[in-house]
Formats: sequence, C-alpha cells, structure tokens
Amino acid sequence: MRRALCLLLAVSPLFAGSIPAAEYKQRRAELRKSLDGVMVLFGAEEPEDLHTSFFQESNFLYLTGWREPGAAMLLTRNEEILFLPAHNRQKEIFNGPITAADDSDANAKSGFASVMPRSAIEPEFLRMAGKSRSIYTLPPDSNAQKLRALMPLHDERNAGTEIARLRVIKSEAEIGRIAESTDITVAAHLAAWKAMKAGLFEYEIAATMTNVYFQHGCERSAYAPIVGSGPNSTILHYMTNHRRADSGELVLMDVGAECSDYATDVTRTVPVDGKFTARQREIYDVVLGAQKAAIAAVKPGARMRGEKNSLQQIAYDYINSHGQDLHGDTLGKYFTHALSHYVGLDVHDPGDVNTPLQPGMVITIEPGVYIPEENIGVRIEDTVLVTPSGAKLLSGALPREASEIEKRIGK
Ligand code: GLY
Ligand code: MN
Repeated sequence: MRRALCLLLAVSPLFAGSIPAAEYKQRRAELRKSLDGVMVLFGAEEPEDLHTSFFQESNFLYLTGWREPGAAMLLTRNEEILFLPAHNRQKEIFNGPITAADDSDANAKSGFASVMPRSAIEPEFLRMAGKSRSIYTLPPDSNAQKLRALMPLHDERNAGTEIARLRVIKSEAEIGRIAESTDITVAAHLAAWKAMKAGLFEYEIAATMTNVYFQHGCERSAYAPIVGSGPNSTILHYMTNHRRADSGELVLMDVGAECSDYATDVTRTVPVDGKFTARQREIYDVVLGAQKAAIAAVKPGARMRGEKNSLQQIAYDYINSHGQDLHGDTLGKYFTHALSHYVGLDVHDPGDVNTPLQPGMVITIEPGVYIPEENIGVRIEDTVLVTPSGAKLLSGALPREASEIEKRIGK
C-alpha cells in the first residue's frame, strides 16, 4: 500500500489540471477543417429519473467541455454555434442554475463566439445546410435525425467517425487525466488485495475498490466493476458481484475509475488465499507471457488487429503455443475476446482499431484464458500509452508477476 500512497501523493492535488479551455476550441478548429457540410451534435439531456446524475455525451464533451444539459451545436468549416436551453425557473429550483444564451457571460463561459437559444437551431440549420451537400450526425440521436429529415437529399455522414479520428490521439492534458484515473485504480486494486481473504463476497471486494475512487473525488466507475470469483472468473463481463469467494479460488477484478471525465481499464487475477495452485499458476503465466509479448510489440506502426503480425495475433500465438487444457488441446480457443481497445473519455473509446498505432494513442493490452471446465479464468489488463519508441504502461505500478501478487494478498 505504501507504493500506492506515494503514487497518489505524486498526482496530488488531484484534478488540479483539467483540460484547458483553449484545447476544446482547438479540437473544434481541427475538426472543422475536415468538414464538408454541417455537423449537428446534441449534448445529453437532463436525466428524467434519479438513477444517475447528469453526464455529458462524450463527443459533445470532447468538443466543448460543456457540462450543462440540453445543449446543441452546429459546426461547418466556417462557423460554429452553441445552442443553449432557455432558463426554466421551476427546473432550476430542482437542478440548479443553468446558463442561457442571453446571459451576459454565455460567450466567456462556453468559449463560443456565437451562442444562441436552442429554439433557434432549426432556422440556423436550414441556413447552413442550404449552402452545403452533407449532414453529419451521430446516429441514433433522434434530435439530429429530425433536423436531418428536413434535408432528405443531402449526403449522410457519420459525425462519430470524424470526431474519433481526433479522439484516438490524446493530448498531453488528456494523458495526464488518464494517468490520474489509472493511479487511483491501481490504488483500488492494491486496497482490494490487502483486504482479500476467503469468504468475502464479490461485492465487498468491489466496494473496497470503488471506495478508493470516491475518496479521491472521482465521479464514478468508468464501467460497472467486474469482480468474478471461481466460476465467475470465466464470464467476461460478469457484473453481478454477489457470490462468495471461497478458498482455493481465483478472483478476477476488472475495474476502472472515471476521474475528471477520463476512464481507465485495469484487470488483475489473484488467488483469494494468496497462493496460486500449480494449475492456476500455469495458466496465469501463459496469459502473462502473452501480455508481455504483445506489450513488447507496441510501437508506432504496429496494428492492434487485422493483419498477420498484429498484437492480437502475437498474443493468440503465444497462448496457443503454451500450455494445454485437460484434454491435451492447445489454449488458443480459450482466448475469446479482443486484445485491445482505445481508452479515453469512454472506457471503450471510439476509433478505428485496424489503423496503425501512433504516439499518443492509449490502448489496453488484455489477453485472457477462460476455462469453465476448470473454474479458471485469467485476464491481465493494462492501460498503455503508445510512445514514439514503444509503450508506457500507465498501470505499470500494479504488480503482474504471480510471485509479487502472492506477496501482497491479505497484507
Ligand atoms: N473492462 C471491460 C472491457 O474492456 O470490456
Ligand atoms: Mn478492457
């Protein structure tokens, strides 16, 4: 735990550096350069029930940093307009004050030179679309589809694809945010390892981890925590977390904090009693070997998947050439998911996974072997920054070697 505390001190005070306002403007300017028509984007609406607090739609957040509900935006190569809902005193009694287009500070707060009432979006859209041939929307956004239907002969383009081209390359500020979320998630894993013992329920382990996030001011889990013991370690997205972890079993913990909007994704698989059985260790070392082989191959120009020497193929080949199941078959068939995805504002951040890696991309490397017949599921996942010369493990402070894990469980 001492190491985790050092890590946390190193990033203290947490969230001091948010994304600079100028960076949002710069992202829009970059996006607009490539536009050949009107992009229509609607932010998230106020949630109608109390299940969740308000979270901005991630493309809208990426381009604006705007954190109030009900906003929209039109972008063309030459123009950008932010649309804001009018004041509604009754709603504001419940949800707090909002910024409206006619507020004197609307431009300064939003960083948009042009801010209009939301009710003006249709005439503005018709004016802009009249001068162009294409409309970019984020399907299935029904608000955007209503506007799009007013111009049925225009070409239809996917806004998400264009925005993802920018989102895959993280800025220094974004890398800093992901590193913070990752440091806190590493501390969460170490807290769970320390508390680990046979007889704990999966939800108790998950609670130990999420408690660390909230103690550090993170807003939520980037995805529902996956804490699978014994047979549940073989279910890839097990999120029920209601079984008791018994002696002799593995516990797979796949969790990530979302802090200052940015996600992370870190998985470790540990023995509940602090000692792998010989068979668990054998499988664990195959997965670790595959992960090391894939990480060693991360560099600009390498591909996550889609070609012979892809990271996916390297990990698969390693798994399929090491170890056997109880029937003497190779293990490749037990690696049943993709090795990598992008991480950013979303845990599964959007972007083309067949494109060559570039510096500034943040991806996961997460091989796994899941053998239900043996109640053994092992996944080892790190969040990795692609650098000009290779890879930097943002979650590298969390031990991966079986012997190091054994030393830390329950202590
Ligand atoms: N951490 C869950 C996933 O990557 O699917
Ligand atoms: Mn993942």
